[in-house]
Amino acid sequence: MRRKLAAGNWKMNGLRADVAQISALAKSFPAPECDILICPPATLLAAVNGQGVISMGGQDCHTGTHGAHTGDISAQMLADAGARYVILGHSERRADHAEASALVAQKVSAAHAAGLIAVVCVGETLAERDGGTTLDVVGAQLDGSLPTTVTAENTVIAYEPVWAIGTGRIPTLGQIAEVHDFLRARLAGGAFAAQADGMRLLYGGSVKPDNAADIFATANVDGALVGGASLKADDFGKIISALCKA
Ligand code: PGA
Repeated sequence: MRRKLAAGNWKMNGLRADVAQISALAKSFPAPECDILICPPATLLAAVNGQGVISMGGQDCHTGTHGAHTGDISAQMLADAGARYVILGHSERRADHAEASALVAQKVSAAHAAGLIAVVCVGETLAERDGGTTLDVVGAQLDGSLPTTVTAENTVIAYEPVWAIGTGRIPTLGQIAEVHDFLRARLAGGAFAAQADGMRLLYGGSVKPDNAADIFATANVDGALVGGASLKADDFGKIISALCKA
């Protein structure tokens, strides 16, 4: 059985006062039946660490362990700060920092070496969706972003259509199911066949309290990567409740 995962991606949001949102969440879910993860900005890692059942993750890491890389953070440093996960290959990193899948794979490998669980993001742009190449795009991103160290335990895949992120638009449930089924089958047909059934596949992109239950009832959806709605404890709490019940 795949244990469900509700992951919050705070992106470049959050000041120390906002950590109270996470403490409130931790109080409302003392023993949840799904995993809960918050990925705060690096400035809040120390403040967020140690919030009961809520795991913490980074939003990116460098490929190396240490060195002359001003502004970067290594996977080892994230682990040392208390992180258990790290988001890698998010479309905002792929777009804003020109991160290609080959680089993402190196980062995933670095995350595994540091004992972190990598949340690897894939997703098509609107032009790719309209052009009918969604499965080709996400398939290539999946193949290219996974190093040989991947297991069902140390890796989570997040399908995040770029056009659904922060827009309030989500794909139809049929479109979500199509991509998630495709990703599971792609894993099963490749180098990670033995891991395919146990690996968690998250959906991300405008997940809100009012659409969460339907998304979580979709086959092969094992949770969500939530941006905007994870910033408010009330909203994220409703999404977590929907997931734990799904
Ligand atoms: P959103 O972001 O929930 O604000 O659309 C999701 C993500 O980018 O992880």
